[in-house]
Amino acid sequence: MRVASVILAAGQGTRMRSELPKVLHSLAGKPLVAYSIQAAAEATGAKPVLVIGHAAERIQEAVGEQVLYAIQSPQLGTGHAVRQAESILKDKADLVLVTLADMPLLSAHTLKEIIALQAAHTGPISMATIRVDDPRGFGRVVRDHAGNVIAIVEEAQATEDQLTIRELNASIYCFKADWLWQALNRVPLSPKGEYYLTDVVGLAVSDGMTVQTLQLEDGAEAIGINTRVHLAEAEALLRQRINQGWMLAGVTFIDPATTYIETDVRIGQDTLIWPNTYLRGNTEIGSGCEIGPNTVIQDTRIGNGCKILASFLDRAVLEDHVDIGPCAHLRKGAHLASGVHMGNFGEVKNSYLGPGVKMGHFSYIGDATIQKNVNIGAGTITCNYDGVKKNRTEIDEDAFIGSDTMLVAPLKVGKGARTGAGAVVTKDIPDFTLAVGVPARQIRKLNQGE
Ligand code: UD1
Ligand code: MG
Repeated sequence: MRVASVILAAGQGTRMRSELPKVLHSLAGKPLVAYSIQAAAEATGAKPVLVIGHAAERIQEAVGEQVLYAIQSPQLGTGHAVRQAESILKDKADLVLVTLADMPLLSAHTLKEIIALQAAHTGPISMATIRVDDPRGFGRVVRDHAGNVIAIVEEAQATEDQLTIRELNASIYCFKADWLWQALNRVPLSPKGEYYLTDVVGLAVSDGMTVQTLQLEDGAEAIGINTRVHLAEAEALLRQRINQGWMLAGVTFIDPATTYIETDVRIGQDTLIWPNTYLRGNTEIGSGCEIGPNTVIQDTRIGNGCKILASFLDRAVLEDHVDIGPCAHLRKGAHLASGVHMGNFGEVKNSYLGPGVKMGHFSYIGDATIQKNVNIGAGTITCNYDGVKKNRTEIDEDAFIGSDTMLVAPLKVGKGARTGAGAVVTKDIPDFTLAVGVPARQIRKLNQGE
């Protein structure tokens, strides 16, 4: 059976009160629309058709090639929106799954269930319903005395009696394709001047056919985002889901409510996360680490057994047993090899710190390669920028950089070399040589191990 999917995203989303199209608002680091696309693609194994209209170009730019596009202009309602996909899907699908782009918590699992329900029955429509106390303006599912669905009534058109119904239309449907395309031609104009997709339910019933329903166990799956209040609610629910998933996978959270982990992050077993920690983008953390509190990590790879305290990391790589913070700042291209210790108020950018390098206090290392076991004294600065271009600093293994040394790049410091406190180094220092002063002079050769 060929199953296609249509996702509706043409509406304006006025209630967001935003310059940004509703479906591009970010939820746990990804645009809203990404969630419904992923779920529909996973459930059907095919590219969904995304119906767009308002801000179509911006949405196309953000979503790219993951979907096929149908344009709805003007936007005359959800029934009219689905019709716009007909020319793409006609005769190419037996079943058509329809969902909304603003329902980010909907799972592929539920979509598969609704497809299976439709595949097993002869009625032309299978739809998901929810039972919740707060109707949130959703359409009401009206049933006859025998319990068969006879209509969906939108809140604005519902009678007093119908308003008390707590079985709601989740807006997740699977249709028999041929029947859907002809039924959409028969949908009447609503009193609001729109063609409602929900009216095909009444049409099926008047055609003498039955409508299958699937009641969702988790009402949260059908949360539609209409306002920023809903967005924050969805964010909290998604956060809960993500964090619970990691806890069940062996990660300890001191306070899940204040731990913010985006959807693509990966975390190893027995890692412990302190409060107010943000793990973002394509971040990967190994096992047995301790992260936070008060830490932001973006697009960074961290090995096993690392300790990150109150620090900011962006596009960095940390090998195993690295220990940094409080208040360390790693920027793009920082690579800390295994066993590096970096204490408070250090900044590293586009630099390699070899195994066992120690950088305890107040240093800036930019555009540098530092070999193993180098000690970087408090306040050391690589003066990497001469006002025109960035220059590199290379420090060979076992060198000892005295406190408050200025390393004026381009510069090479030899193996086992030392600088005196406050040195301003403007010339390369050979292996095992001591340089002191401003500007630094080489005053003597060092004995090995000195
Ligand atoms: C819709 C359902 C309602 C259901 C609710 C669940 C209809 C008429 N009503 O109501 O029964 O309980 O969803 O969330 O279907 N859209 C278009 N083109 C349009 C109009 C809307 O693409 O012309 C898209 C919107 O971008 C949005 C979605 O369809 O993503 C839903 O539209 P909206 O107007 O918000 O319908 P609801 O009032 O939420
Ligand atoms: Mg809505």
